[in-house]
Amino acid sequence: MSPERYVFPHKHLLGIEPLEPRDITALLDQARAFEEVCERPDIKIVPALRKKLVVNLFFENSTRTRNSFEIAQKRLSAEIINFDADTSSLAKGETLVDTAMNLEAMRPDLIVMRHSAPGAHALLSRHMKASIVNAGDGAHEHPTQALLDAYTLRKKFGKLDGLKVAIVGDIRHSRVVRSNMWLLTKMGAKVTLVGPPTLVPQDLKATWPSIEISHDFDAVLPEQDAIMMLRAQFERGTGAYIPGQGEYSRFFQLNPSRMKRAKKDVAVMHPGPINRGLEITSDVADGPNSLVLDQVTNGVPVRMAVMFLLCHPHGELVP
Ligand code: NCD
Repeated sequence: MSPERYVFPHKHLLGIEPLEPRDITALLDQARAFEEVCERPDIKIVPALRKKLVVNLFFENSTRTRNSFEIAQKRLSAEIINFDADTSSLAKGETLVDTAMNLEAMRPDLIVMRHSAPGAHALLSRHMKASIVNAGDGAHEHPTQALLDAYTLRKKFGKLDGLKVAIVGDIRHSRVVRSNMWLLTKMGAKVTLVGPPTLVPQDLKATWPSIEISHDFDAVLPEQDAIMMLRAQFERGTGAYIPGQGEYSRFFQLNPSRMKRAKKDVAVMHPGPINRGLEITSDVADGPNSLVLDQVTNGVPVRMAVMFLLCHPHGELVP
């Protein structure tokens, strides 16, 4: 009997939470095939999404994620519409569901959306025939960031199972950390959340019982294989949770003196944008252990893989 062929079972990518480990592995394997396309010296384009219409709906600021999705779409030969939330009828008071239903009437195949409301994507998915990709919803999930982080870690260490990963800083406001907690725990990594008590909600343990929480960065640093630094999200109110930036940096900044305590080949990561000099110093962010730009590079094939498998769930490894 031939082994059962894997079919990607999800219509939308609303978060990492609904994915099984084998879905995550399928996405990362597909991304590896697309990485080869992205690294070609000549034509970095495949016809995998030819004649598919993709709408990018960004209601919150984004540079990296938006550009990364758009490059991924171009590499897949999709037709692209960039919906400008500022000039749209939303500014005239149209509801999100109205906007979505009007878009739906134009029959797009895929919608990539960033929105400040947690759960906005789940709401839309109930009104749309198109597949929806969550490019960030408030402080809830940012699944493609977690996938590209996992891809970057797997590329460096060859595995995720058993890796020790500390996620450090503004845990409270980060959607990146929530998607990473789902992904890393599903794939067998050992996650330690590090930050001041005010920025690390204790109730996270109820959802992710296997994670450790520490308020002492120096104590947990030496055993980590990877350190993911998070941006202090002042636009979401972080200032009210810390006594001051100097105090925050003294205990939670990744800087050269802390790096001396870390493993020699520790992976230093940050989803960007970086507050240089606050959560991480420039010499570490740009230093030999930093994978920050690898994360950005890997974002393109990972997003290609997500959009490809949503549109072609039977996907071939190399289209
Ligand atoms: C993150 C985001 O927007 O959630 N950035 C990103 O997507 N690269 C993290 C952040 O804003 O700090």
